[in-house]
Amino acid sequence: MCGITAYRGPTAAASRARNALERLEYRGYDSAGIAARRPDGSTMHARTLSGVAALAVVVGEEPADATTAAIGHTRWATHGEVSEANAHPLEDCGGRLYVVHNGIIDNADALRARLVGAGHRFATGVDSEVIVHLVEQAQRPGVGLGDALADAVTHLSGSWAVVVLDARSGALAATAHGSPLICAEAGGGTYFASDVGAIAPEVDEFRVLEDDDVVEVDAAGPRWHRSGGSCRPRGLWPVPRTALLASTGRHRDHMGNEIDEQPLIARRVLEALSPGIADGRLWRGLGLPSLDGIDRVAVLGCGTSLHAGRAVAGVFGRLGGMPTRTLVASEVAHEVWEPRTLVIAISQSGETADVLRALDSLPPRHGTVLALTNNTSSTLARRSDAVIDCLAGPEVGVAATKTFVAQVLTGVCVALSALAAADRGDSACVDADLRALAATPDALAAALDTWRGPCAQLAADHARASGFLFLGRGAGLVYAAEGALKLKELSYRWAEAHPAGELKHGPLALVTTGTPVFVVDNGDPRLDVDIAEVTARGGRVIRIGERVLNVGGVALHLPRTGPSWGPLESVIPLQMFARELALRLHRDVDKPRNLAKSVTVS
Ligand code: G6P
Repeated sequence: MCGITAYRGPTAAASRARNALERLEYRGYDSAGIAARRPDGSTMHARTLSGVAALAVVVGEEPADATTAAIGHTRWATHGEVSEANAHPLEDCGGRLYVVHNGIIDNADALRARLVGAGHRFATGVDSEVIVHLVEQAQRPGVGLGDALADAVTHLSGSWAVVVLDARSGALAATAHGSPLICAEAGGGTYFASDVGAIAPEVDEFRVLEDDDVVEVDAAGPRWHRSGGSCRPRGLWPVPRTALLASTGRHRDHMGNEIDEQPLIARRVLEALSPGIADGRLWRGLGLPSLDGIDRVAVLGCGTSLHAGRAVAGVFGRLGGMPTRTLVASEVAHEVWEPRTLVIAISQSGETADVLRALDSLPPRHGTVLALTNNTSSTLARRSDAVIDCLAGPEVGVAATKTFVAQVLTGVCVALSALAAADRGDSACVDADLRALAATPDALAAALDTWRGPCAQLAADHARASGFLFLGRGAGLVYAAEGALKLKELSYRWAEAHPAGELKHGPLALVTTGTPVFVVDNGDPRLDVDIAEVTARGGRVIRIGERVLNVGGVALHLPRTGPSWGPLESVIPLQMFARELALRLHRDVDKPRNLAKSVTVS
């Protein structure tokens, strides 16, 4: 989704802003731009639909130290078509002020009408453009850029992270409201970015702008304002160690490497968290109430994170016997919240607007929100009562893979520890789950080895299939859902996931000769009947996770019970198949069309 970078300092501002933009590319965007002030007071302003790399041509022509203040942006269109003219930075009437904006301005139409009435000339239909004209209107002799920006945003409703460049003076001013923005200093310069990953190699620490903070940077360095008066800079956060651990491997795409990395991530999570499970230390360390004071668990998230949440809820429900609900974050607004509910909010980015809005609907002083995120300095982390780091490291592929496995495992560790702290759960079942948890890294590695070849072949066999069904039962169902999501995200083919028991109540009508039907086998014996219903109609069943015993040439399917979070390793062949099919169809597996990594608008 949209990304912001900015820099003011002694050297190479445009290159620094552009390099930082490159580190945000993975989030998904459709245009990019940069504006920078040269020492002679002239402005460099370049926008492109051809990717951040294309900006290098413009920036690269400048001598290394030519620019001292710059702002950059990657745009993921919400208002206004994808075009160079609509790309940020957007310019004021006088060619002096440039703005980059993430978020949505809800009252842009009314503001635009008012500004046009006052004589401002608009170059685009983009909501963000009103901001630069409002700052232009507010900027008068004696009013600094920070105060002008603070004045401008009092007229806005919606969400924003904004950085303005005054190309005449070289000053920058930034503010945020419901959209993330961080500020950091290093080497005599000041950086802004919407995501710490953009500047992680350049800085050691950063500060997060709280809603309506304004930071102005000029020759004297950064100054923090709030509601007209100055305020102390916010506290420093260390750049997370994992922000620098990008996956490397033998694939040309990031997604392939991130899939392969999952056993390693599982080991990392278990090494960090499993010592605190059996004695409940992990749970108690979070500072949340004991489960004795909690009656029910509600897990909320979007997309893949929601699926991870369903798996985690299985531990509280199946093992702990607690009532659990999983909630689609964008549908939570009218939820009736019962007292003594533990809310687990799951988001790899920690910035998903639907998840943050969902928290708004909680009763005041609810007191028991646990964030499970891959970004411990995110808005979600800061707004929650306790935070647990998923430890996945940066995930570049837009379609989540390793963060899913990391979320499931961190959530499972926390849930098992919570049950242990409250002495809940049948001890034999708890022991079986702990053994399964310890075996997970090997199970993931074995799935990678087993399925690499077959997945490539399956993709070749089904390259022309127009649609796919994914079936599961019980704890296997969530992995079927995740498999269908991966397939549609990457291949742009229709993919539906259903509880296998629902097959005969509708989805069976879709099955005809050759219809590919993935079945996630969690050991439920009723799946044999479901599979027979599909094969009787000519469907081609691809069964994931079955345990087969060959007795005198006859295959016997072994019943088994898996852990309370289900057969996590079954996600590996589903991710691999989605990627193999997408590559075969010449899709960009790292940046699927229309999708973004971090969805900061609701
Ligand atoms: C977007 C991404 C998905 C992701 C979802 C939730 O839609 O494309 O891959 O699962 O957001 O993101 P979050 O950061 O909250 O986990």
